[in-house]
Amino acid sequence: MLLQGKVAVITGSTSGIGRAGAIAFSKEGASVVISGRNKERGQKVASLIKEQGGQAHFVPADMLAMADIEQLVKAAVDTFGRLDIFWHNAGIVGPDDIENISQETYDKMMAVHLKAGVFGVKFALPQMRKAGGGAILFTSSVAGLKQSGYSLTYSLAKSGLVMLTRKLAVDLAKDNIRVNCLCPGRVQTGMRPDISQEKARALGITAEEWEKRDKKRIPLGRFVTEEEVADAALFLVSDRASAITGVALPVDGGFLAV
Ligand SMILES: NC(=O)c1ccc[n+]([C@@H]2O[C@H](COP(=O)([O-])OP(=O)(O)OC[C@H]3O[C@@H](n4cnc5c(N)ncnc54)[C@H](OP(=O)(O)O)[C@@H]3O)[C@@H](O)[C@H]2O)c1
Repeated sequence: MLLQGKVAVITGSTSGIGRAGAIAFSKEGASVVISGRNKERGQKVASLIKEQGGQAHFVPADMLAMADIEQLVKAAVDTFGRLDIFWHNAGIVGPDDIENISQETYDKMMAVHLKAGVFGVKFALPQMRKAGGGAILFTSSVAGLKQSGYSLTYSLAKSGLVMLTRKLAVDLAKDNIRVNCLCPGRVQTGMRPDISQEKARALGITAEEWEKRDKKRIPLGRFVTEEEVADAALFLVSDRASAITGVALPVDGGFLAV
Protein backbone atom coordinates (compact mmCIF):
# COMPACT_ATOMS: atom_id res chain seq x y z
CA MET A 1 0.00 0.00 0.00
CA LEU A 2 1.31 3.43 -0.97
CA LEU A 3 0.48 5.29 2.27
CA GLN A 4 0.66 2.57 4.91
CA GLY A 5 1.16 4.10 8.39
CA LYS A 6 0.89 7.69 7.14
CA VAL A 7 -1.42 10.32 8.63
CA ALA A 8 -3.00 12.85 6.26
CA VAL A 9 -4.95 16.05 6.87
CA ILE A 10 -7.13 17.11 3.93
CA THR A 11 -8.88 20.48 4.13
CA GLY A 12 -12.13 20.67 2.17
CA SER A 13 -12.72 16.92 2.24
CA THR A 14 -16.43 17.01 3.11
CA SER A 15 -17.21 16.84 -0.63
CA GLY A 16 -15.84 16.75 -4.17
CA ILE A 17 -12.12 16.34 -4.85
CA GLY A 18 -11.11 16.29 -1.17
CA ARG A 19 -13.66 13.60 -0.36
CA ALA A 20 -12.44 11.45 -3.27
CA GLY A 21 -8.87 12.04 -2.10
CA ALA A 22 -9.68 10.98 1.47
CA ILE A 23 -11.22 7.74 0.21
CA ALA A 24 -8.27 7.07 -2.12
CA PHE A 25 -5.66 7.80 0.59
CA SER A 26 -7.41 5.56 3.10
CA LYS A 27 -7.59 2.68 0.61
CA GLU A 28 -3.80 2.98 0.40
CA GLY A 29 -3.41 2.66 4.18
CA ALA A 30 -3.42 6.28 5.39
CA SER A 31 -5.31 7.48 8.45
CA VAL A 32 -7.21 10.50 7.20
CA VAL A 33 -8.43 13.63 8.93
CA ILE A 34 -11.51 14.90 7.11
CA SER A 35 -12.23 18.59 7.41
CA GLY A 36 -14.65 21.32 6.38
CA ARG A 37 -17.48 23.39 7.85
CA ASN A 38 -20.36 21.02 7.10
CA LYS A 39 -20.52 18.58 10.01
CA GLU A 40 -23.12 16.27 8.48
CA ARG A 41 -21.19 15.77 5.25
CA GLY A 42 -17.86 15.51 7.07
CA GLN A 43 -19.10 12.84 9.43
CA LYS A 44 -20.61 10.93 6.50
CA VAL A 45 -17.24 10.81 4.71
CA ALA A 46 -15.50 9.62 7.90
CA SER A 47 -18.18 6.95 8.48
CA LEU A 48 -17.92 5.72 4.89
CA ILE A 49 -14.15 5.30 5.20
CA LYS A 50 -14.52 3.45 8.50
CA GLU A 51 -17.21 1.16 7.00
CA GLN A 52 -14.70 0.31 4.27
CA GLY A 53 -12.17 -0.70 6.95
CA GLY A 54 -10.13 2.52 6.91
CA GLN A 55 -9.18 5.01 9.63
CA ALA A 56 -10.78 8.45 9.53
CA HIS A 57 -11.66 11.28 11.87
CA PHE A 58 -13.75 14.37 11.09
CA VAL A 59 -12.62 17.73 12.49
CA PRO A 60 -14.92 20.67 11.73
CA ALA A 61 -12.85 23.67 10.67
CA ASP A 62 -13.49 26.95 8.89
CA MET A 63 -10.48 28.03 6.83
CA LEU A 64 -11.42 31.66 7.57
CA ALA A 65 -10.70 31.07 11.29
CA MET A 66 -7.03 30.86 12.26
CA ALA A 67 -7.85 29.06 15.52
CA ASP A 68 -9.68 26.33 13.56
CA ILE A 69 -6.68 25.76 11.28
CA GLU A 70 -4.35 25.41 14.27
CA GLN A 71 -6.83 23.12 16.05
CA LEU A 72 -7.15 20.94 12.94
CA VAL A 73 -3.46 20.06 13.01
CA LYS A 74 -3.54 19.51 16.77
CA ALA A 75 -6.59 17.22 16.50
CA ALA A 76 -4.86 15.16 13.80
CA VAL A 77 -1.84 14.53 16.00
CA ASP A 78 -3.97 13.96 19.13
CA THR A 79 -6.02 11.37 17.25
CA PHE A 80 -3.46 9.55 15.12
CA GLY A 81 -0.13 10.43 16.82
CA ARG A 82 1.72 12.04 13.91
CA LEU A 83 1.36 14.03 10.70
CA ASP A 84 2.93 13.10 7.35
CA ILE A 85 0.72 14.68 4.71
CA PHE A 86 -0.95 18.10 4.65
CA TRP A 87 -3.23 18.76 1.65
CA HIS A 88 -4.86 22.19 1.54
CA ASN A 89 -7.71 21.61 -0.87
CA ALA A 90 -10.59 23.75 0.50
CA GLY A 91 -11.80 26.30 -1.98
CA ILE A 92 -14.63 28.53 -3.11
CA VAL A 93 -15.57 30.09 -6.43
CA GLY A 94 -17.52 33.13 -7.47
CA PRO A 95 -17.46 35.38 -10.50
CA ASP A 96 -15.83 38.79 -10.26
CA ASP A 97 -13.77 41.23 -12.27
CA ILE A 98 -12.14 44.61 -11.75
CA GLU A 99 -15.49 46.42 -12.24
CA ASN A 100 -17.47 44.57 -9.58
CA ILE A 101 -14.76 43.40 -7.17
CA SER A 102 -15.43 44.08 -3.48
CA GLN A 103 -12.95 44.14 -0.61
CA GLU A 104 -15.01 41.50 1.15
CA THR A 105 -14.79 39.04 -1.78
CA TYR A 106 -11.10 39.77 -2.24
CA ASP A 107 -10.30 39.15 1.43
CA LYS A 108 -12.38 35.97 1.59
CA MET A 109 -10.89 34.49 -1.59
CA MET A 110 -7.35 35.19 -0.45
CA ALA A 111 -8.03 33.91 3.07
CA VAL A 112 -9.63 30.57 2.13
CA HIS A 113 -7.06 29.66 -0.51
CA LEU A 114 -3.80 31.45 0.31
CA LYS A 115 -3.79 32.53 3.94
CA ALA A 116 -5.14 29.16 5.08
CA GLY A 117 -2.49 27.46 2.94
CA VAL A 118 0.36 29.50 4.39
CA PHE A 119 -0.73 29.16 8.02
CA GLY A 120 -1.87 25.56 7.64
CA VAL A 121 1.68 24.69 6.62
CA LYS A 122 3.10 26.84 9.43
CA PHE A 123 1.08 24.86 11.98
CA ALA A 124 1.74 21.48 10.30
CA LEU A 125 5.47 21.96 9.88
CA PRO A 126 6.72 21.13 13.40
CA GLN A 127 4.71 17.90 13.33
CA MET A 128 5.94 16.93 9.86
CA ARG A 129 9.53 17.59 10.93
CA LYS A 130 8.94 15.37 13.96
CA ALA A 131 7.72 12.63 11.59
CA GLY A 132 11.00 12.91 9.65
CA GLY A 133 9.51 14.61 6.58
CA GLY A 134 6.44 14.25 4.43
CA ALA A 135 4.41 15.76 1.62
CA ILE A 136 2.47 19.00 1.26
CA LEU A 137 -0.07 19.44 -1.49
CA PHE A 138 -2.21 22.39 -2.56
CA THR A 139 -5.18 22.39 -4.89
CA SER A 140 -4.59 25.24 -7.29
CA SER A 141 -6.36 25.27 -10.67
CA VAL A 142 -5.76 25.77 -14.38
CA ALA A 143 -6.89 29.30 -13.45
CA GLY A 144 -3.67 29.60 -11.42
CA LEU A 145 -1.62 29.07 -14.57
CA LYS A 146 -3.80 30.75 -17.19
CA GLN A 147 -5.94 33.78 -16.42
CA SER A 148 -9.58 32.93 -15.96
CA GLY A 149 -12.31 34.93 -17.64
CA TYR A 150 -14.54 33.84 -14.77
CA SER A 151 -12.93 35.30 -11.66
CA LEU A 152 -10.13 37.77 -11.01
CA THR A 153 -9.76 36.92 -7.33
CA TYR A 154 -9.92 33.14 -7.89
CA SER A 155 -7.15 33.34 -10.50
CA LEU A 156 -5.05 35.53 -8.22
CA ALA A 157 -5.43 33.25 -5.23
CA LYS A 158 -4.78 30.08 -7.21
CA SER A 159 -1.67 31.53 -8.88
CA GLY A 160 -0.47 32.46 -5.39
CA LEU A 161 -0.68 28.78 -4.46
CA VAL A 162 1.58 27.91 -7.41
CA MET A 163 4.23 30.34 -6.15
CA LEU A 164 3.75 29.14 -2.56
CA THR A 165 4.41 25.60 -3.85
CA ARG A 166 7.69 26.62 -5.48
CA LYS A 167 8.87 28.69 -2.52
CA LEU A 168 8.12 26.00 0.06
CA ALA A 169 9.55 23.23 -2.15
CA VAL A 170 12.89 25.01 -2.06
CA ASP A 171 12.75 26.01 1.62
CA LEU A 172 11.55 22.66 2.98
CA ALA A 173 13.67 20.27 0.89
CA LYS A 174 16.20 20.19 3.74
CA ASP A 175 13.43 18.81 6.00
CA ASN A 176 12.68 15.98 3.58
CA ILE A 177 9.32 17.61 2.82
CA ARG A 178 8.15 17.70 -0.79
CA VAL A 179 5.65 20.36 -1.87
CA ASN A 180 3.51 20.18 -5.00
CA CYS A 181 0.20 21.44 -6.29
CA LEU A 182 -2.56 20.17 -8.51
CA CYS A 183 -4.07 22.34 -11.22
CA PRO A 184 -7.39 20.71 -12.06
CA GLY A 185 -9.32 21.80 -15.12
CA ARG A 186 -13.07 21.28 -15.27
CA VAL A 187 -13.96 18.73 -12.62
CA GLN A 188 -17.49 17.46 -12.16
CA THR A 189 -18.01 18.44 -8.49
CA GLY A 190 -20.47 20.45 -6.43
CA MET A 191 -18.97 23.78 -7.51
CA ARG A 192 -19.25 23.03 -11.26
CA PRO A 193 -23.03 23.70 -11.77
CA ASP A 194 -22.63 27.22 -10.31
CA ILE A 195 -19.76 28.02 -12.64
CA SER A 196 -21.56 26.63 -15.69
CA GLN A 197 -24.70 28.59 -14.84
CA GLU A 198 -22.81 31.86 -14.36
CA LYS A 199 -20.93 31.46 -17.63
CA ALA A 200 -24.08 30.45 -19.51
CA ARG A 201 -26.02 33.42 -18.10
CA ALA A 202 -23.38 35.83 -19.39
CA LEU A 203 -23.82 34.39 -22.91
CA GLY A 204 -27.61 34.05 -22.70
CA ILE A 205 -27.52 30.27 -23.19
CA THR A 206 -28.37 27.27 -21.00
CA ALA A 207 -25.81 25.68 -18.68
CA GLU A 208 -26.09 22.45 -20.70
CA GLU A 209 -25.28 24.31 -23.92
CA TRP A 210 -22.34 26.07 -22.27
CA GLU A 211 -20.92 22.77 -20.99
CA LYS A 212 -21.28 21.24 -24.47
CA ARG A 213 -19.30 24.13 -25.95
CA ASP A 214 -16.76 24.06 -23.12
CA LYS A 215 -16.03 20.36 -23.62
CA LYS A 216 -15.01 21.13 -27.21
CA ARG A 217 -12.11 23.19 -25.78
CA ILE A 218 -10.79 20.15 -23.91
CA PRO A 219 -8.71 17.75 -26.03
CA LEU A 220 -10.09 14.70 -24.18
CA GLY A 221 -13.58 16.07 -24.89
CA ARG A 222 -14.92 15.70 -21.36
CA PHE A 223 -14.69 16.99 -17.81
CA VAL A 224 -12.31 15.34 -15.34
CA THR A 225 -13.69 13.17 -12.52
CA GLU A 226 -13.02 13.71 -8.81
CA GLU A 227 -11.37 10.28 -8.70
CA GLU A 228 -8.93 11.23 -11.47
CA VAL A 229 -7.80 14.27 -9.46
CA ALA A 230 -7.59 12.11 -6.31
CA ASP A 231 -5.34 9.63 -8.16
CA ALA A 232 -2.96 12.45 -9.13
CA ALA A 233 -2.96 13.62 -5.50
CA LEU A 234 -2.23 10.10 -4.29
CA PHE A 235 0.74 9.83 -6.64
CA LEU A 236 2.19 13.22 -5.61
CA VAL A 237 2.02 12.56 -1.86
CA SER A 238 3.33 8.99 -2.13
CA ASP A 239 6.93 7.78 -2.40
CA ARG A 240 6.27 7.02 -6.07
CA ALA A 241 6.84 10.77 -6.53
CA SER A 242 9.96 10.82 -4.32
CA ALA A 243 11.94 13.00 -6.77
CA ILE A 244 9.08 15.41 -7.52
CA THR A 245 8.83 18.71 -5.68
CA GLY A 246 7.88 22.26 -6.67
CA VAL A 247 5.58 21.06 -9.43
CA ALA A 248 2.20 22.46 -10.54
CA LEU A 249 0.53 19.47 -12.21
CA PRO A 250 -2.40 20.11 -14.56
CA VAL A 251 -5.14 17.49 -14.32
CA ASP A 252 -7.21 18.98 -17.08
CA GLY A 253 -7.80 16.62 -20.00
CA GLY A 254 -5.27 18.63 -22.02
CA PHE A 255 -7.02 22.02 -21.59
CA LEU A 256 -3.76 23.93 -21.02
CA ALA A 257 -1.98 22.25 -23.91
CA VAL A 258 -4.18 23.96 -26.50
N1 LIG B 1 -14.42 21.58 -9.61
C1 LIG B 1 -13.57 22.13 -10.43
O1 LIG B 1 -13.82 22.23 -11.64
C2 LIG B 1 -12.25 22.65 -9.90
C3 LIG B 1 -11.27 23.04 -10.83
C4 LIG B 1 -10.05 23.51 -10.36
C5 LIG B 1 -9.81 23.59 -9.03
N2 LIG B 1 -10.77 23.22 -8.14
C6 LIG B 1 -10.45 23.34 -6.73
O2 LIG B 1 -10.63 22.09 -6.10
C7 LIG B 1 -10.85 22.29 -4.69
C8 LIG B 1 -12.01 21.44 -4.25
O3 LIG B 1 -13.20 21.89 -4.88
P1 LIG B 1 -14.32 20.90 -5.43
O4 LIG B 1 -14.38 21.08 -6.89
O5 LIG B 1 -14.12 19.55 -4.87
O6 LIG B 1 -15.64 21.60 -4.87
P2 LIG B 1 -16.57 21.30 -3.60
O7 LIG B 1 -17.17 19.96 -3.74
O8 LIG B 1 -17.44 22.50 -3.50
O9 LIG B 1 -15.54 21.26 -2.37
C9 LIG B 1 -15.07 22.40 -1.74
C10 LIG B 1 -14.58 22.00 -0.36
O10 LIG B 1 -14.01 23.16 0.27
C11 LIG B 1 -14.58 23.28 1.56
N3 LIG B 1 -14.63 24.68 1.97
C12 LIG B 1 -15.09 25.75 1.29
N4 LIG B 1 -14.99 26.88 2.05
C13 LIG B 1 -14.44 26.49 3.23
C14 LIG B 1 -14.08 27.17 4.41
N5 LIG B 1 -14.27 28.50 4.58
N6 LIG B 1 -13.53 26.46 5.43
C15 LIG B 1 -13.34 25.12 5.30
N7 LIG B 1 -13.65 24.42 4.21
C16 LIG B 1 -14.20 25.10 3.17
C17 LIG B 1 -15.96 22.67 1.46
O11 LIG B 1 -16.35 22.18 2.74
P3 LIG B 1 -17.56 22.77 3.63
O12 LIG B 1 -18.64 23.21 2.69
O13 LIG B 1 -17.92 21.60 4.50
O14 LIG B 1 -16.96 23.88 4.41
C18 LIG B 1 -15.71 21.50 0.53
O15 LIG B 1 -15.27 20.37 1.24
C19 LIG B 1 -11.05 23.79 -4.52
O16 LIG B 1 -9.88 24.39 -4.01
C20 LIG B 1 -11.32 24.28 -5.93
O17 LIG B 1 -10.98 25.63 -6.11
C21 LIG B 1 -11.98 22.75 -8.55
